[in-house]
Amino acid sequence: MKVFAPVSIGNFSVGFDLLGLAISPINGEMLGDIVSVETADTYDLTVSGPYADILPKDKSTNLVTLAYKLYMQKMALKGLPTTALKLHLEKRLPVGSGLGSSSSSSVATLYALNKFFGDALSIDDLLELGGQLEGEVSGSIHFDNVAPCLLGGLQLMTGNEMQPCVSVPFPESWQLVVSYPGIEVSTKKARDLLPKEIDLATSIKFAQNLSVFVHALHAEDTDMAASVLFDVIAEPKRKFLIDGFDAYRDYAKSMGAIAFGISGSGSTVFAVTNNHETSNKIQKYALNNFCLKGGFSHICKVDNFGVREVEIET
Ligand code: HSE
Repeated sequence: MKVFAPVSIGNFSVGFDLLGLAISPINGEMLGDIVSVETADTYDLTVSGPYADILPKDKSTNLVTLAYKLYMQKMALKGLPTTALKLHLEKRLPVGSGLGSSSSSSVATLYALNKFFGDALSIDDLLELGGQLEGEVSGSIHFDNVAPCLLGGLQLMTGNEMQPCVSVPFPESWQLVVSYPGIEVSTKKARDLLPKEIDLATSIKFAQNLSVFVHALHAEDTDMAASVLFDVIAEPKRKFLIDGFDAYRDYAKSMGAIAFGISGSGSTVFAVTNNHETSNKIQKYALNNFCLKGGFSHICKVDNFGVREVEIET
């Protein structure tokens, strides 16, 4: 059994730690990690893929192993039976890219294990375990990559244990030009740059942007949604970690991008457009000027499916 978990944009500009979007390239490429499961006498993990070499050599610290242990503990807590399994991770996403690389590995693992054990745990259980794993990696539990990666679409965290996140409609007409410059940004370090307290004016602007954005999406008013799609919390502190950020944003805006922001804690950035011609120009700029250190750029749309079983040969 093979499971694919898509990339995601955490924060989605207006929702620091609260809003995350699952995305897929429009050319059909599968941008995300793949985990496969088979029965074994003892636990083992093998790794392949374009980004396998940058993972820790010690398998016990690999996120897939941590997800496996956490899943097995949860099953034991519920008194549910398990057997040892061998896992394979195809690491297709760069680490420290801001594309939810760690969530993609952990969600694919949790979902694959759960499928193997006949959906023994609930989706909310998997969400909780995914959040815990995110906390182990970045030093702070947040769900804005785990939730969209698991459920697809645009997910808003509620803070309510009974219903941890809700789906918000995302415009099918919007494209996202997602550009990774090829440099690693540690989420932990990027979080350490943030202020511990936010002043009143910024807090009000943050609340206004997020609430108007969510309202506008429900009202299908894409102009209103685009007008508030900017980040007043993290971007001002983090953009200095990303060489060429201002120049790329200015170019994208001048070409007609309706919004531009940092994906998660970076280094990936994204431009939102409402037509393919604009996306093409912004992608071309990225490939010639921004993605010069082994990066990439994809034109994407919302991925409404989230983690899923796949049958492809990898
Ligand atoms: N919300 C998190 C942050 C996402 O921005 O720190 C990290 O990918």
